[in-house]
Amino acid sequence: MPCTVIVGAFWGDEGKGKIISYLALKDNLDFCVRTGSVNAAHTVWMEGKKYALHMVPAAFVNPKCRLFIAAGANVQVAKFLEEVELTKVHKRIGIDNNASIIEDKHAAQDKASAHLKGIGTTGWGVGPAIEERVRRTAKLAKDLPELQHYVVDTVTEINEGIDQGKRVLLEGTQGFMLSLYFGTYPYVTGRDTGASAIASEAGVGPTRVDDVLIVYKSFITRVGAGPLPGEMTKEEAQKRGWFETAAGTGRDRRSAPFDYDLAKKTAKINGATQAAVTKLDSIYPECKGKRRFDELQSEAKQFIKEIEKQTGVPVTLIGTGPDALDIVDRRK
Ligand code: IMP
Ligand code: MG
Repeated sequence: MPCTVIVGAFWGDEGKGKIISYLALKDNLDFCVRTGSVNAAHTVWMEGKKYALHMVPAAFVNPKCRLFIAAGANVQVAKFLEEVELTKVHKRIGIDNNASIIEDKHAAQDKASAHLKGIGTTGWGVGPAIEERVRRTAKLAKDLPELQHYVVDTVTEINEGIDQGKRVLLEGTQGFMLSLYFGTYPYVTGRDTGASAIASEAGVGPTRVDDVLIVYKSFITRVGAGPLPGEMTKEEAQKRGWFETAAGTGRDRRSAPFDYDLAKKTAKINGATQAAVTKLDSIYPECKGKRRFDELQSEAKQFIKEIEKQTGVPVTLIGTGPDALDIVDRRK
């Protein structure tokens, strides 16, 4: 803090939503800026209720936090309005003038393309909407009457906030290995998902970012096609208690054990200054709900120390359960 980028280390679904909701409450975030688009779902638990958010920033759990949709983001209007209603954030969310719009035709194109089916896209139309933006024929948020209540100059507001020392979180979506530039092309999403790109989409210059928090999950998952080193069978994943289904599309997530080499590479390219490790309780069930490092069993502590040793990045936050506050916070 004050300006932190959150980036996913692998193929998405590392638990960024949970980490962001914790920081929103614990660090009293002033601003949270969502990048990317509707293809990514961030899971947040609040007061026993589960939210899988596709558009509204995960920091909504703090009622004082102002929320933004970045200039580089792509807005699915129906989903945005539905989630604003669900989370009751009408008065504190702004969409940048220049955010672009995903139309129904984009989702139809996404689903009709045999090539995109082979990649296993989410079908939300994000790729075709980005193509349209690159062609410079996309509609922007400022063009739509139904968004007029929300449209603002987020870039000025965010940068003035940083000048005033506000606590600003730039919410990355998906994972670094899905990056259009650095991931497992062509089995990637339609944008760069790295820390620099997250800042760029939000309109924040690189020198104004204080921290890059990379989020690792204790094991790796991937949805859709493309390589996954160390992939295990669904039966094996179920036996280990690692089997998951996607928060957005309900598809099975493929899984693999934690990969130190990949963790090291993604920490370096993203310039990570801190790391979070989520779902430690999935691989060490005795850790469930623990909130202090010295309460963790020795193998679990060893695992965290090995990540620090191999990546050279301090693991400051450790997730031990779904609730926002199920965290070992080692920052103090
Ligand atoms: P698209 O982003 O819908 O074009 O899908 C491209 C690839 O990225 C597919 O393999 C998707 O499963 C994957 N993908 C996109 N968004 C997410 C996400 O938020 N979590 C995990 N995988 C994602
Ligand atoms: Mg997700």
